[in-house]
Amino acid sequence: ASKSVKLNTGAEMPTVGLGTWKSAPGAVEHAVEFALKNGYRSIDTAAAYKNETEVGVGMKASGVPRSEFFLTTKLDNPDHERAAEALEQSLKNLGTDYLDLWLMHWPAPMTPGSVAPVKTIDWLDTWKSMEKLYKAHPEKLRAIGVSNFSVEYLERLLANCEVVPAVNQIELHPSCPQQDVVDFCNAKGIVVTAYSPLGSDNSPLLQNEVVKKIAEKYNVQPANVLISLQANRPGVNVLPKSVTNARILSNSNIIDLTAEEVKELNDIDKTHHFRACHPSWTGWGSLGFPDCKDADK
Ligand code: A2P
Repeated sequence: ASKSVKLNTGAEMPTVGLGTWKSAPGAVEHAVEFALKNGYRSIDTAAAYKNETEVGVGMKASGVPRSEFFLTTKLDNPDHERAAEALEQSLKNLGTDYLDLWLMHWPAPMTPGSVAPVKTIDWLDTWKSMEKLYKAHPEKLRAIGVSNFSVEYLERLLANCEVVPAVNQIELHPSCPQQDVVDFCNAKGIVVTAYSPLGSDNSPLLQNEVVKKIAEKYNVQPANVLISLQANRPGVNVLPKSVTNARILSNSNIIDLTAEEVKELNDIDKTHHFRACHPSWTGWGSLGFPDCKDADK
């Protein structure tokens, strides 16, 4: 895999970045500092993770100049109607003047305190607010994009937007391949970023026989096989999460898989489908993810 993928803005986004979903304050500072000190040049966080401040501490502690790494954060669901304020808050939390990428975290507008999407708010209006901020403040936003968008949602977005999202960040691993979304994004020049490439915490994929067999062949960990599977998909980059030094180091080692190995890995989904990220408020299928219905995890 090449070391970066080109966004539709012309910017390069590294192929492997550090994910921080579920990386708790207290641990994430060190993970970010360690990753940056050891060659990572992409860090992903979100307002919803409640760790932006600590991610910022780690960024600073690393000594790596801000201009040398790619930083992504996301607009939280309750902030759809207050995007400008949310952007300022994220910049302040992270201690930075700009974001390389700002994503709508979910097409699920809520209001502070609401427990489910509020149907009277349209996420398309949220996108329009993000577009406005992007155009008005190029010094603060280098790119904007979306996350957790299915094909159906992307079609509606593309039919109604002025700025084509640079990225769609979605869950991708052998038990959640979302090939339809990847194909659609490839065709439209939207980079797909894979989150939970291992299948998140306590993933059964790390014990999967096919994954283990391929890992043994290349003398790498099962995690490397899973991360490499995503890194080698055209137009895709990947965000393995870890707060463990040895894993942070090892996870950036990408190997080339044969077409046959890729097929074997892709076949896992036929018998073992699951999604690691399914907030209770999504309601299976209601965000246009029909493959969620048979989640078995
Ligand atoms: P930890 O952060 O404690 O090191 P995903 O990227 O799919 O969301 O997976 C993250 C989960 O996988 C976390 O529980 C993380 O644990 C664990 N993990 C990260 N890297 C590895 C690895 N190389 N081997 C095994 N587990 C890993």
